Amino acid sequence: MSNETAWREVDDYFCSTLLPADPVLEQALRDSDAAGLPPHAVAPNQGRLLNLLVRLQGARRVLEIGTLGGYSTIWLARALPPGGRVITLEANPVCAEVARINIERAELADRIEIRVGRAADSLPQLLAEGAGPFDFIFIDADKPSNPLYLEWALKLSRPGTAIVGDNVVRHGAVADPHSTDANVQGVRRFLELMAAEPRLSATAVQTVGSKGWDGFSLAIVET
Ligand code: DHB
Ligand code: MG
Repeated sequence: MSNETAWREVDDYFCSTLLPADPVLEQALRDSDAAGLPPHAVAPNQGRLLNLLVRLQGARRVLEIGTLGGYSTIWLARALPPGGRVITLEANPVCAEVARINIERAELADRIEIRVGRAADSLPQLLAEGAGPFDFIFIDADKPSNPLYLEWALKLSRPGTAIVGDNVVRHGAVADPHSTDANVQGVRRFLELMAAEPRLSATAVQTVGSKGWDGFSLAIVET
């Protein structure tokens, strides 16, 4: 059995054992696929992990950079206490429309605001509006912009804010300093900036499973 097959089998086992059937989320994935979105939503057990992290954090205000079809957005929003809110940023209007319908079906439209436009434009706007500080920030958009997104995440944070980054391993390519892949270089710079930032305590962990070999970064904003 190849590694990838074994990883998938274990993920299937974990998901079928630990996660109840979830027609709303399953339909969200089907509709994302039907609309031609790339299969880059987090895995179900990863979505649940994000949900649990938001609850551990006691977060009321969540910022997501990169909505895609709204799959992770739904997991994040379901973790909120009454009155909590997710703002999610999406550059692609086709993705944003798929997400809007998925979020509507999940009956979470009152807790989630989708902002359509480049995050590089939306993030300064959020700061200008005084939309922050956010308690939990999930960075899961175009990887070359990760360093920029980290800078804005810090500006929109408070001491104690958790910042999670998706896709920091990229099938192991992250460890190659000579990689010519702009995604890999974006993630490497992102990790280096986290390491150099005295306001952050950060780590990263590898994951294997139905999404292959990848991983998450996690950082907490210090005082
Ligand atoms: C890619 C992006 C993602 O957010 C993801 O979860 C998987 C892959 C990508 O750009 O390749
Ligand atoms: Mg991702």
